[in-house]
Amino acid sequence: MEGTAHNKEKDKILLAYSGGLDTSVAIHWLNEKYGCEVIAVTVDVGQSDDLKDAMRRAKSIGASRAWVVDAKKEFADNYVLPALKANSLYEGNYPLGTAIARPLMVAKLVDMAKRFGAKTIAHGCTGKGNDQVRFEVSIMALAPDMEILAPTRDWGMTREEEIAYAKEHGIPVPVTVEAPYSIDESVWSRAIECGVLEDPWAEPPEDVFEWTKGMDGSPDAPEYVELGFEQGKPTTMNGSPMELLDMIKKLNEIAGNHGVGRIDHIENRLVGIKSREVYEAPAAMVLIKAHQDLESLVMTKDLLHYKKIVEQHYADLIYNGLWFSPLKEALEAFVEKTQEGVTGTVRLKLFKGSAVVVGRESPYSLYNTALSTYAKGDEFDHSAAKGFIYVWGLPLKVGSIVKAGANGNGAGSEVAVTEESASAGK
Ligand code: ARG
Repeated sequence: MEGTAHNKEKDKILLAYSGGLDTSVAIHWLNEKYGCEVIAVTVDVGQSDDLKDAMRRAKSIGASRAWVVDAKKEFADNYVLPALKANSLYEGNYPLGTAIARPLMVAKLVDMAKRFGAKTIAHGCTGKGNDQVRFEVSIMALAPDMEILAPTRDWGMTREEEIAYAKEHGIPVPVTVEAPYSIDESVWSRAIECGVLEDPWAEPPEDVFEWTKGMDGSPDAPEYVELGFEQGKPTTMNGSPMELLDMIKKLNEIAGNHGVGRIDHIENRLVGIKSREVYEAPAAMVLIKAHQDLESLVMTKDLLHYKKIVEQHYADLIYNGLWFSPLKEALEAFVEKTQEGVTGTVRLKLFKGSAVVVGRESPYSLYNTALSTYAKGDEFDHSAAKGFIYVWGLPLKVGSIVKAGANGNGAGSEVAVTEESASAGK
């Protein structure tokens, strides 16, 4: 039978398992449909779920093996750091904590698939989101021969039907029909969707937030934090050396306690849908703000402005699933070069939802008090400004004269201005 022959090829499926409803149902569904071994792999990028418990559940549902790959440090050093150096914010808002986690997950899944001799990788993404694209495009880039299955996209069950399926087959799931939100976490951001948030007018209720305190609950006194950078990499916090991963965790706590890092974003998905996304990203927002500020201090104006163009392209292509693309690699090489002088310290004040940079210093600072001061000691050559303005404005002056001539006013002809109309225009 054709079907059997096809099924035989899938003697092993490696499933990207999150522990949630979709992928829990998927273990059973894949087992039944293909009659083959399903290996559940969870990649730990700092989600706060109990992953050990998720593994136990995977096995109880029917996974032949269940693995957790701890990729938190690699995530911070190789995925968050390049994104931070490029001040990556999709549409100026979202620090891409989900988008940068997917390519790393795929890298780990592909490694595991090779290790277990699985020729098929399955994921639990739906057909409406960006993550299906990120997963599949990354698999295509890293393992072009790998077969890809997206059961959640193919089986056509509603959430309620999935829950019924789970009940029918004794699948333990950590959610009920009432669980209103869809959450995705990495150490870089926590994304919250669904439920009441689907109404873009509705203010997010306090219960969607877990990492950040609201205005009412946050401390009434500000807190200062000093972040040290070396060539664009955060290396110290309040003077003490710290691994990036630890710093992110710490800043999520400290800045989250002051309510910093809440984001409410009408987002343009790659698949053409506008969605309302709520995020919590205290560490990301503080680190990006500090990094941007230090760059302003040490970079020439043209480099700084050009880099912003690159940053937007870079954020877009990460969002759009092209982490493993040649363009991303090339843009990253540019960004890396720009970081040579991004060394110094930034001081921020955290208070009632805001993180404000209040001081910065760097051995590469291009800020020159003798040039910028309005007080004694001013070394700027004021007389040079006159000649500069003559040259700078010359094209506009010439253009204006020519335009007046073409409009029939004739170059050099006077425009009548009476005293009355001149004062009336004031
Ligand atoms: N909109 C974000 C992105 O595409 C986050 C998606 C998070 N997923 C979720 N189930 N909440 O990167």
